[in-house]
Amino acid sequence: MAGKVFFSVSMSLDGFIAPDSPGDLMGQQWMELQQWIFPQRFFRENLKLGEGGEEGRDNDIARETFERTGASVMGKRMFDAGEQMWPEEAPFHTPVFVVTHTERDPWERPGGTTFHFVNDGIESALDRAREAAGDRDVRIAGGGATILEYVNAGLVDEFSIALSPVLFGSGIRLFEGVDAGRVALEQIRAEPSPRVTHVTYAVRER
Ligand SMILES: NC(=O)c1ccc[n+]([C@@H]2O[C@H](COP(=O)([O-])OP(=O)(O)OC[C@H]3O[C@@H](n4cnc5c(N)ncnc54)[C@H](OP(=O)(O)O)[C@@H]3O)[C@@H](O)[C@H]2O)c1
Repeated sequence: MAGKVFFSVSMSLDGFIAPDSPGDLMGQQWMELQQWIFPQRFFRENLKLGEGGEEGRDNDIARETFERTGASVMGKRMFDAGEQMWPEEAPFHTPVFVVTHTERDPWERPGGTTFHFVNDGIESALDRAREAAGDRDVRIAGGGATILEYVNAGLVDEFSIALSPVLFGSGIRLFEGVDAGRVALEQIRAEPSPRVTHVTYAVRER
């Protein structure tokens, strides 16, 4: 059976998922946005940040999100930012399809991550990701522009947001330009942890 198409992001309380400039990714707002995940044992292991870390519901959610993902799709700006920051063994361990106008040969990393650069649109990238994922799910990893394209095309089944207690004021707003007349949401789950609130929605056609 084919898996679901989903995304899972951290969002500020005022609706932003990243600062305006990729150069600010190590800045204070970004650190506050992602503060729930950095101490988690699974995250630390996966990014080779060292042993130990917190265990609990936040850690389980990080692990479950990773384990359900058979392939990812991402936009070129997320890839560009990640290329600078991920360790040599990139933290996906599955194929990743980068939607982009840039032509580039596949980039294979140790540990099972291969980045494929897809130049013929979001549907083609998703077809390839579904095939690679088998019966696991496809994660639209980000960023905002790419997630929005998939939402507006009616191609997302479900999404989760870790709602962080931080205000950005400006930046990349997750739902800027959403086709609101088309998308209806059904809440599946809401789980507070001491650090953030995790909310999960199924996406339905209106
Ligand atoms: N808060 C979170 O959990 C989270 C999660 C993921 C990412 N992020 C952040 O999100 C930011 C990036 O998001 P973003 O919205 O700026 O950009 P993005 O969605 O990552 O990338 C957009 C770029 O992808 C390429 N692209 C997208 N759709 C395409 C299409 N149909 N055909 C061809 N190329 C296409 C284009 O680049 P080219 O024209 O150059 O090819 C486009 O400029 C990063 O700062 C990242 O850290 C946050």
